[in-house]
Amino acid sequence: MVTTNNPRKILVTSALPYANGSIHLGHLVEYIQTDIWVRFQKMQGHTVHYVCADDTHGTPIMLRAEKEGVTPEALIANVHQEHSLDFAEFLVAFDNYYSTNAPENKELSQGIYNKLKAAGKIATKTIEQYYDPVKNMFLPDRFIKGECPKCHAKDQYGDSCEVCGATYNPTELIDAYSAVSGAAPIRKETEHYFFKLSECEGFLKEWTRSGTLQGEAANKMGEWFESGLNDWDISRDAPYFGFEIPDAPGKYFYVWLDAPIGYMASFKKLCADSGLDFDEYWNKDSSTELYHFIGKDILYFHALFWPATLEYSGYRKPTKIFSHGFLTVNGEKMSKSRGTFITARSYLEHIKNPEYLRYYYAAKLNSSMEDIDLSLDDFVARVNSDLVGKYINIASRTAGFINKRFDGKLLISSTQPSAIQEIKSAAKIIAECYESRDYSKALREIMRLADHANADIAEAAPWVKAKQEGDSAQIELHQDCSSALEMFRLLTLYLKPVLPLLAANVEKFLNISPLSWESVDNSLVTGHQIQQYEHLITRIDPKAIEAMTEANKENLLAAPQVVVPTVAKVAAKTAPDANLAEAEYISIDDFTKVDLRIAKIVNAEHVEGAEKLLKLTLDIGEESTRQVFAGIKSAYDPANLVGRLTVMVANLAPRKMKFGMSEGMVLAASDERGGPFILSPDAGAQLGMRVK
Ligand code: MSP
Ligand code: ZN
Repeated sequence: MVTTNNPRKILVTSALPYANGSIHLGHLVEYIQTDIWVRFQKMQGHTVHYVCADDTHGTPIMLRAEKEGVTPEALIANVHQEHSLDFAEFLVAFDNYYSTNAPENKELSQGIYNKLKAAGKIATKTIEQYYDPVKNMFLPDRFIKGECPKCHAKDQYGDSCEVCGATYNPTELIDAYSAVSGAAPIRKETEHYFFKLSECEGFLKEWTRSGTLQGEAANKMGEWFESGLNDWDISRDAPYFGFEIPDAPGKYFYVWLDAPIGYMASFKKLCADSGLDFDEYWNKDSSTELYHFIGKDILYFHALFWPATLEYSGYRKPTKIFSHGFLTVNGEKMSKSRGTFITARSYLEHIKNPEYLRYYYAAKLNSSMEDIDLSLDDFVARVNSDLVGKYINIASRTAGFINKRFDGKLLISSTQPSAIQEIKSAAKIIAECYESRDYSKALREIMRLADHANADIAEAAPWVKAKQEGDSAQIELHQDCSSALEMFRLLTLYLKPVLPLLAANVEKFLNISPLSWESVDNSLVTGHQIQQYEHLITRIDPKAIEAMTEANKENLLAAPQVVVPTVAKVAAKTAPDANLAEAEYISIDDFTKVDLRIAKIVNAEHVEGAEKLLKLTLDIGEESTRQVFAGIKSAYDPANLVGRLTVMVANLAPRKMKFGMSEGMVLAASDERGGPFILSPDAGAQLGMRVK
């Protein structure tokens, strides 16, 4: 027997994805890693609950909702639907996928805070923070921009420069401005609530060294302890999208306080829906197991703040924290310009089959925190050669004979080939690999067994026996193909945590009940009837990969995408059957790609030889002015234009025209009723202001 005799009770989580963006292939490393582990444990017969949720609170989500003109609740409801669908299609099978903006989470968060306060672990302190005097809100560092103090690149974030890579404090930025309103931020005092983490050092040192973390993670902790633990700022001032702190009007929990409590809230909802006992899993001395799968970037929150929060509010701590590395694509950080920033949706549209990616990630994953690389060429080669060429090949070469010649019925020989025994006896080591998250080793072992199975089949050569006369050749053919299908059954069992949909289709084809780990001890028997064999999986077409990266390439310098829908609208009118409904809308992201600025016309003149054009010189507050050719000659005397303000597209790719370079575009209205009329801002607008 391979399975353990005492079933474990296990609660598993993946980190809660932020509700302000789409799921991408980087996220999927984690959700696929966790899902494989959960499916494996369920196959072992353990009781496992896998919960997750959207992480919905905080300033970025609040501001994004405002920008889109919707309530934060409406925004997160939409994203919840999108995320749920993405996960379902990648076969990530949560037992509950919830939201941190839920009543259970509010109650748990406020309850935990009250307990921390009663335990003397909360303090208040007056601090000074950046404040946007126009928008009347405190600004997180990310929302302060300005000129980089090192390389003088404009519009850099308050914490680091994307051009030269320098890191600094927002105070060091030159001409800092609020990314929300554009106003210069001021410093303002405010009272904040702190969790006294510095008092938890003894507990945390012991906890992080007690085998709860991977070696690399424990070492990282050591560094953090050396530099000393600071108290943790857990409050934010209104306006903030989150939960209010009890007895502290206008103060909200910082998103990272209620986010991990969202693990508990999601489980609490599952308990209510399915009759489980919440306390059994969260009591201080619970005998159940609790595992958090996370990325290495959020280790600090999970290995310091979270266990301390649980300890001092009287709950159990995690059994272990499993942290993984980051995804690179073709050896580099995912990149929009290279087309390797790929969303879950885009993958599904182009490659379609989610199990290719599940297989590839599994083939790469181990228990370390090293980054993992998705090399797109290797992806195609590995899936095609291993999955299709080795594993599926076993069935595709033999099932047809059983179907056609033997009425779909099996004949099992009393002397089974040695390969079957070898495959069966690998169950223990493969289970150990899954248990320890060394999926790459599990798959290497499974593919080695598949090689062996294929060698056996090649030696038996059913296609030769099929052409031979006589009963004994037919019996051997029948037995050899039946053995091959038994090997295929066993390998399917081993691959099932990684390829659950494919395994379900194999179960249907083999006409067997769902495989669990103890099915290793069963066998297909003589007379068992299988179904007609149909293609289970096809090879990846490298062209689909190319199309996917092409589609994801964001041309950052080209003319803004915003022109596309306009063209599509015209096309829709002339070609009524063209399905362009979707193209009639642009997203807020499309719109914000257009850099519209208030420009001052500092010079305007006729262009020799040009019928319609005027040459304008525009000042938008940059070092040099812009030269733009505008088709407005019929309506304007150049002399009347000089000195006035208008609106220009400042990031239109420069175009070489017959009369010289045109470095932007001036906006003007016109149709059959007249024009062009160039746009002017209201009094008070200053040159260089952004239009949004
Ligand atoms: N909302 C927080 C987590 C709160 S948990 C109480 C968060 N969200 S996230 O959307 O940014 O990331 C969700 C998970 O995906 C994290 O564990 C993160 O490490 C992981 N990944 C996000 N991008 C990734 C890669 N490019 N590669 C691998 N994992 C990545 O953090
Ligand atoms: Zn810089």
